[in-house]
Amino acid sequence: MRVLGIETSCDETAMCLIEAGGAFGPDFRFKILGNALSSQAALHTTYGGVFPNVAKREHAKALVPLLQKCLQQVGEKVPQQLSTPLDDDMIYHISAIVEREPELLAQLEPFLRTQSKPHIDAIAVTVGPGLGPCLWVGVNFARALSATWDVPIVAVNHLEGHVVMSMMDVRDPSSGKLAECRFPVIALLISGGHTELVLSKEFGTYELLGQTRDDAVGEAFDKVARLLGLPYPGGPEISRLSREARRSDEVTPHRIRLPRPMLHENNLDFSFSGLKTAVRRLVERRTPTDEEKKKIAREFEDAVADVLVEKTLRAVDTCSTNTLVVGGGVSANAEIRRRISIACQLSAVNCQLLIPPPEFATDNAIMIALAGYFRALKKEFADPTTIQACGNLPLA
Ligand code: KG4
Ligand code: ZN
Repeated sequence: MRVLGIETSCDETAMCLIEAGGAFGPDFRFKILGNALSSQAALHTTYGGVFPNVAKREHAKALVPLLQKCLQQVGEKVPQQLSTPLDDDMIYHISAIVEREPELLAQLEPFLRTQSKPHIDAIAVTVGPGLGPCLWVGVNFARALSATWDVPIVAVNHLEGHVVMSMMDVRDPSSGKLAECRFPVIALLISGGHTELVLSKEFGTYELLGQTRDDAVGEAFDKVARLLGLPYPGGPEISRLSREARRSDEVTPHRIRLPRPMLHENNLDFSFSGLKTAVRRLVERRTPTDEEKKKIAREFEDAVADVLVEKTLRAVDTCSTNTLVVGGGVSANAEIRRRISIACQLSAVNCQLLIPPPEFATDNAIMIALAGYFRALKKEFADPTTIQACGNLPLA
């Protein structure tokens, strides 16, 4: 089955086409036929964060070129004359679907007039969670393609996308296989919008065990980076500074101490806004030097890692599982990966860790196509006339 994946939930516009076959399990195989991504990070750096309506417009402008790029990679000839041109009714229909995205319509209409129907069996699109205006662009784009090419749509939960991506075999990412995965599993989802611990007893079902009570961990990384005068997105910047601090540790040992929020509370919840406030107090007291910034970044990363590791391993213990799945943009963080990996090896059950390579930890369309594929196998198609984007769509 060929699945087109579309991701527009935040500030990455991503598109891919995969070929997949087999049910969830050892027989599953997939190949990436085309893959393209356009990041808005540089644009949002000027604002210090993501503005939904700016992001929406950028998605609208990026979608058609990304689809063209994907199809070119697949070997489809672009542009190509349609054997039967779009009739006026269809053009009217498509214009109505994307009427709120004029930048998209301007490119979509000429594209659809010249592009013959590619081999696509299903269109998987992120419907949430994420930024409402951004999600709607992707959803309406999927509806327009679905109407023109008569291909069914699968509504994908972005968080399930992260979970599925983490379950791929990373020892050989080109193998296109699933890792051996023993359910039940605990999933730790750490991204710009979420910090959740979830129990999955079988693929596709989720129970929420704990979550952040305020800021998501990625959001805390981004806000602390901003306090330190670092550009958006802050996660990779904090990580870079921390690495430098760790390197120079022997020369100038670090003495900055930040809190470990909720570490000793008997639950699986998190809180990161106090940690961010503690950093704010530090920098407000005295403008930090470059060396001090590195130390703050390092201590912040340590505090986050301490809490994440402790609560996650507690969840693994409580639920008697021996597989941990970690996903979301923050799982690209080298120190957090290292600490979670050690904790899993040292755990009483020798917990198996499934974590994507850093380049697949942040948002991409492959995770959406994969999650969509498994739903499409079960014929879980959305009604294109009633499909909705939902900014706070829960996983569990
Ligand atoms: O999953 P993702 O790409 O988008 C959302 O679904 O939110 O996650 C983005 C978040 C941002 O907050 C970004 O700062 C953080 O992931 N992030 C990192 C790293 N790379 C990305 N945080 C810490 N260390 C990193 N290396
Ligand atoms: Zn994400």
